[in-house]
Amino acid sequence: MRNFTRKNVVSLEAYKPEPQQAKAVLNANENPYNLPPAVAEIIADRIRQLDFNRYPDPGASELTKAAADFCGVPPDKIICGSGLDEILMIMTEAFVGPDDTVVTHKPGFSMYDIWTQIAGGSFISVFDKPDGSIDVDGLIEEARDNCAKIVYVCSPNNPTGYRMPAGEIVRLLEETPSLIVLDEAYVDFADGSLVRMTDDWENLVVLRTLSKAFRLPSARCGWAVADPRIIDAMFKVKGPYNLNALTQIAARTVLENADQILDKVPEIIDSREDMTAFLQKYPQITVYPSSANFIYFKTKDAPELQQCFIDSSVLTKYFKSDYAFRLSIGTPAENEAVKKTVIDLYGEKK
Ligand SMILES: Cc1ncc(COP(=O)(O)O)c(C=O)c1O
Repeated sequence: MRNFTRKNVVSLEAYKPEPQQAKAVLNANENPYNLPPAVAEIIADRIRQLDFNRYPDPGASELTKAAADFCGVPPDKIICGSGLDEILMIMTEAFVGPDDTVVTHKPGFSMYDIWTQIAGGSFISVFDKPDGSIDVDGLIEEARDNCAKIVYVCSPNNPTGYRMPAGEIVRLLEETPSLIVLDEAYVDFADGSLVRMTDDWENLVVLRTLSKAFRLPSARCGWAVADPRIIDAMFKVKGPYNLNALTQIAARTVLENADQILDKVPEIIDSREDMTAFLQKYPQITVYPSSANFIYFKTKDAPELQQCFIDSSVLTKYFKSDYAFRLSIGTPAENEAVKKTVIDLYGEKK
C-alpha cells in the first residue's frame, strides 16, 4: 500500500497503553479517591434529564462559566477542551506551524513535544538543573535565539514536582518574545494558581484540568485561561462539538461542588510529605521535593527496585534510562505497599 501517513507522523509511536491491573495503581498521577457519592448522584440526575437527541452546547457555556467563576476571570478568557490533551492540540494548531519553534524544560510532559512534531514545528528542551529546578536562563536564551512561538512551563512539573517561583515566570514573560504557557495541571496540590497573572500579561496562557485534584480524568475536561484574543484564535481551530454533553454536565457539577471535591487534597499533601520523609531516610535514594500529588526519585538500584515493585504489584512510572521513578500518592494502604517494598529491598530505617 502507498504510505499515506504524513512525513512527520511516520516516526511517532502511537500512545496505546495496556489496561493496567495492580494492587496499587500509582503510575498516572491520578487521585486515589472516587467522587463523593452525593456529587456522583447530582451528575446522574442531570444526565437523566439530558436531551440525548441534541448536539451539545458548542461553546460549553455553563461549564465555561463555572470554570471562570472558579478561576476568578471572565468567561471570554476561557476555552474548554476534552482534557488538557485537547487544549494542547488546539493551541498547537492555532500557534505552531512548520517554521515555528517551541521550547520547554526537560524532564517534562511529553505531549508538548508530540503535538509540535505533528505540526511539523521544531522542539527544543532545556535540561533542568541537577537539583530539579528549571533552568530559566536557559529557557530565555533558547526562546530568544529561536524567536520561539511557545515556551511551555509545567509547574508543578510532571515528573519532578518542582514549582517554579512566580518571579521566574515574570522573567519569561518580560524577557522572551514568546507565548508563555504555564501548565498548572497539579497546582491544586501546591500553594496557589498564577491564573490571575493573565490579567496583566497578554502573552501568558494558564492551563487547568479536572483530571487530578478534581478526581475527574474519566470525563476529560481541561481549559486554557488567557487574553480573549488568544482564546479567539483557539476557538477558530477547535472542533464545533469538542466537549460532549455528558462531560459538560460532570465537569460543571464538580466545579460547582469544588469544596467537597477538593477536601481530600490536604490528606494527599500530608501523605506526600510523609512519603518524601520516608524515602529521604535511604541514602541510596535521591528524592526531589514535590509540590504535586506524586514524588520523583532516583536510585542506582532502580532495576532491582522496579522488579520489587512488580513482584509486590505496585505500579509506578519507571523511567528506565534515568534510573528514576515517579510515584503517585495513593490511599494509605497503597502508600504502605510502597513502603513495604522499599523496606523489603533496603531494610527498615528508623
Ligand atoms: C502536566 C500535564 N499536563 C497535561 C496533562 C493532560 O491532562 P488531561 O487529563 O486534562 O488531558 C497531564 C496529564 O497527566 C499532565 O501531567
